[in-house]
Amino acid sequence: MANGLDDVVAADTVLSDVDGVGGHLTIRGHSLAELAGRWRYTQVVRLLFDGFFDDLPRDAELEKAIGKARLEVFDRVKPLLAQLAPLDIYSGMRAGMAVLPDGDGLADALRLIAAPAVLTPALLRLGRGETPIAPDAKADHAGDMLRMLAGAASPALAKALDSYLVTVCDHGLNASTFATRVVASTQAGLTSAILAGLGALKGPLHGGAPGPVIEMLDAIEASGDATAWLSNEIAHGERIMGFGHRIYRVRDPRADALKAVVRQLGSRNETGSRLAFAETVEQAALDVLRIAKPQRSIQTNVEFYTALLLEAVGFPKEAFSNVFAAGRVAGWVAHAREQQATGRLIRPQSRYVGPVPDLVA
Ligand code: COA
Repeated sequence: MANGLDDVVAADTVLSDVDGVGGHLTIRGHSLAELAGRWRYTQVVRLLFDGFFDDLPRDAELEKAIGKARLEVFDRVKPLLAQLAPLDIYSGMRAGMAVLPDGDGLADALRLIAAPAVLTPALLRLGRGETPIAPDAKADHAGDMLRMLAGAASPALAKALDSYLVTVCDHGLNASTFATRVVASTQAGLTSAILAGLGALKGPLHGGAPGPVIEMLDAIEASGDATAWLSNEIAHGERIMGFGHRIYRVRDPRADALKAVVRQLGSRNETGSRLAFAETVEQAALDVLRIAKPQRSIQTNVEFYTALLLEAVGFPKEAFSNVFAAGRVAGWVAHAREQQATGRLIRPQSRYVGPVPDLVA
């Protein structure tokens, strides 16, 4: 049976490599540990885009160009926001991105980088009955995203969000990146390809998990007994959100990168006590999963600490997948360009297992 394309190599890439046995993530020649908390998101965008666009500026100019793209996107989607606001926040963002031009140039790519960062705060504000705040083209990308959300951004929270965007910028041939590459292989434009990635990211088995992680933490807190709550979920055939991965058989290295960022936000404040509680839940979940699924190594994945980090910087749980998209869009664009450059259409085969027509004599 064709089973999720496990172990099938469907692309050669210079962009990232996931070592699921060793627990390492390499992004264009750099380990995640080298990048997370050290490089800024704009620098990582440059790293991923290098060689895929002719006129790629240096870091400082790129930062400005992304700022300009945020303004451009805001002006373009502003007249549509009232229509998008009643949709769920992810669908609103996806619909807003669908109106962007569908070209292959750097300006198209930068608008796509800017769009989730602009649309998400604007739609959240409208949903709360508040007026959207226009981007500040001179601000840094993550800081501006928080400013558009709350009116102001502390440098510590902006740095935490920036580290998150870096940590999730690319991750091998995951479902959304594959979907993006399939569309790019038809030589469709970047917006079409990124819309495919957005569709794939939405599902709870991929980027839709961190919202449910918060729901789980709240339910466990209310129940007062993590082990009993988690065991009951497993007994009812439910999956524990934030655990397990198709590739990693050891701990997802992004989980520790994000946990370190959350820890830096403080130990004695609300975030600190939330982190301490999450750590006890994590340990209980790992124990429960080890006993319930002894044949499978199910470890903490990126989504568990994503939930804590995004909650700490001020996003509501329904917008977590949007913020994931705001980081991953850099990887999607680079993969789309890399796939387009091969000139090869992705066209696998299916095995027909349906009824056979009667032969006409
Ligand atoms: N909770 C409980 N059981 C889990 C589990 C989880 N989080 N993840 C995997 N399993 C179990 C499955 O139920 C299955 O058990 P079985 O053999 O008794 O039926 C076994 O592990 C293998 O599952 P499978 O679906 O083949 O693994 P996968 O490689 O496809 O799983 C995920 C990858 C991400 C889809 C899966 O781990 C999952 O659903 N996790 C929860 C959602 C999540 O956190 N997603 C974000 C991913 S970054």
